[in-house]
Amino acid sequence: MTGQLPPIDIAKHAAAKAASALVETGMKVGLGTGSTAAFLVKCIGERIASEGLDITGVATSTATAKLATDVGIKITTLDEARWLDLTIDGADEYDADFNLIKGGGGALLQEKIVATASDRMVVIADATKKVDTLGAFPLPVEVLGFGMKTTQMLLEEMLEGLDVMGNRAVPRMKGEALFVTDEGNHILDLHVGRIGNARQLALVLNQVPGVVENGLFIDICDLIITGHGDGSVETRDINSGDQTKSGPELAEHDNVFADISE
Ligand code: A5P
Repeated sequence: MTGQLPPIDIAKHAAAKAASALVETGMKVGLGTGSTAAFLVKCIGERIASEGLDITGVATSTATAKLATDVGIKITTLDEARWLDLTIDGADEYDADFNLIKGGGGALLQEKIVATASDRMVVIADATKKVDTLGAFPLPVEVLGFGMKTTQMLLEEMLEGLDVMGNRAVPRMKGEALFVTDEGNHILDLHVGRIGNARQLALVLNQVPGVVENGLFIDICDLIITGHGDGSVETRDINSGDQTKSGPELAEHDNVFADISE
């Protein structure tokens, strides 16, 4: 069964497809988490099926590991792989300096470890993720369950003295219960509105006892591929300064992924 992709999914798919072309046989590839990364995993699966692409993937969540296995990607652990050629992942926000907010799906800890352990990190995103200043998207912070209310209080106090526009730290819920990450921790979403100094905030958040990791990715991303609803993509490379535009290729595309469950 096929159906038409909505523009937001055409954009995500276009970015994912362009990124999948960066994957080469023999590579060890970090596979991100979220709806855009799911398109990527499926695009890589298509290349494995159609051209015998042979890669090893390291997943950033149990959800991604399952999807990757379903589409034929060999999955190993980061401990086994040690270092990766490339990681491709989505983002909740990115700015002009390639600073990111990640963790909307709750996988920020594994995502940051995997991205940091990669020669190159590529972000794939639809154009709505691009912002002038980070912070409208609540910043996810992974925290230990032990003393979580104290960690919450300390974070809120600390935020009062920083260049942000709000200080509420809201426990993320799943139904009636606290959301639990793949590592067995919880998430506090920081409603800061606007982050004046992302580098400083990323550093100080991790000084609060109980904080495991925060969702600010600074100096980690190398390339951003932005997809648009007409199927066109823009790429920007922070190292070379190169910018390219291509497409659209998918504007009238059927949903070739409708038969693969999310
Ligand atoms: C997962 O924890 C996140 O970091 C995702 O990468 C981010 O939320 C983007 O997800 P979407 O591609 O679904 O927007």
